[in-house]
Amino acid sequence: MHEPTPAAPEDPASPQGPTLFDWEFATDPYPAYAWLREHAPVHRTKLPSGVEAWLVTRYADARQALADQRLSKNPAHHAEPAHAKGKTGIPGERKAELMTHLLNIDPPDHTRLRRLVSKAFTPRRVAEFTPRVQELTDHLIERFESRGEADLIHEFAFPLPIYAICEMLGVPREDQDDFRDWAGMMIRHGGGPRGGVARSVKQMRTYLGELIHRKRDDLGDDLISDLIRASDHGDHLTEAEATAMAFILLFAGFETTVNLIGNGLHALFMNPDQRERLQASLAAGESALLATGVEELLRYDGPVELATWRFATEPFLLGGQHIAAGDPVLVVLAAADRDPERFADPDTLDLSRSDNQHLGYGHGIHYCLGAPLARLEGQTALASLLMRLPDLELAVPPADLRWRGGLIMRGLRTLPVRFTPRN
Ligand code: HEM
Repeated sequence: MHEPTPAAPEDPASPQGPTLFDWEFATDPYPAYAWLREHAPVHRTKLPSGVEAWLVTRYADARQALADQRLSKNPAHHAEPAHAKGKTGIPGERKAELMTHLLNIDPPDHTRLRRLVSKAFTPRRVAEFTPRVQELTDHLIERFESRGEADLIHEFAFPLPIYAICEMLGVPREDQDDFRDWAGMMIRHGGGPRGGVARSVKQMRTYLGELIHRKRDDLGDDLISDLIRASDHGDHLTEAEATAMAFILLFAGFETTVNLIGNGLHALFMNPDQRERLQASLAAGESALLATGVEELLRYDGPVELATWRFATEPFLLGGQHIAAGDPVLVVLAAADRDPERFADPDTLDLSRSDNQHLGYGHGIHYCLGAPLARLEGQTALASLLMRLPDLELAVPPADLRWRGGLIMRGLRTLPVRFTPRN
């Protein structure tokens, strides 16, 4: 049953509804999502950009919407793009070549590109990468472990996925710090000043285009070379498609993983009993709790709060609401994954939860391509930190932590910690 949730904050504009997208909501959106699930499970709202969209918050509706072919990923289906003059905050609405990637296209183009990239980005390639992820992780921890304090977002969660995906793609080491800087600009100013972000995206695109061009004549053992090699019935990726693909791999795999590590550590700090369980199991050399634990952290407070944009291609009913053709639909993964209709005790963190088909990686044809790499990075990062720095603790009161207020992602700005220094 959907129990009534009395704790919902009041919105002066609509007396029964919670206020969405303000500072308090960014800090803890879960009471507002509980209210929506209960009272308005498919809810039309005005986003901070001014665009109106439907929010889908119940698990069953969310799962259906993620797999529904009547919901297109192509922003050309948005009813009001011209009206909003490209200022909607919807990536791809301005038709940049770089934006013609998996998350903005439908079958049959999506089927073709996804099949090609799946030949390069294989679970085997990820498995082979395991020792290198451990090395990168250890190296980052070594840089701060003698200090007794660190900001785990900037010094750890942020560089790890950037270096990891750069290495997988085959970006030479000497160029990887450029990527760190461009990505830093994108994450810092994601919802703010556009100038620096646009410049960083452009620099990244130019670099990736040149790298792909160079690798054509000098194929190696890396993901970009495999993307160039991949073919399906004689069909290859064009250079522009390969560039867009490399870009989406970087982009989709970067801030998500930063937030898996950041949100995951935060949840462990706030639930010391679970953290102790995990530490005891790691110390005993077990890996089962780490594996179920990372899945639970994704369910409990995952990096992707709302799935990326979808647009109705025809009118249809969703959760009892009439969705019109052209309407944007945002599936709230964070709300669906706390639905008491699907998960027992959904607001409790239980690292050994077994019936845990969460939607943190999405569902259907756009299901996260990078999930094996994300799991590897998340598990390696959390296990290494907890084993090497066992008395790791927050260095500020939890109420002082600040969350980024973006639309799609949920994550911390900083995560200051302290611990007994290691030499
Ligand atoms: C798609 C989550 C890490 C690459 C998605 C989607 C979600 C997601 C929810 C589906 C979005 C939608 O349907 O609107 C996550 C989370 C991650 C993570 C929570 C980390 C914990 C990664 C990594 C990579 C990656 C490391 C690659 C290096 C992709 C790609 C897609 C995708 C390419 C688009 C797939 C398609 O449209 O066919 N991810 N992701 N992700 N993810 Fe991830």
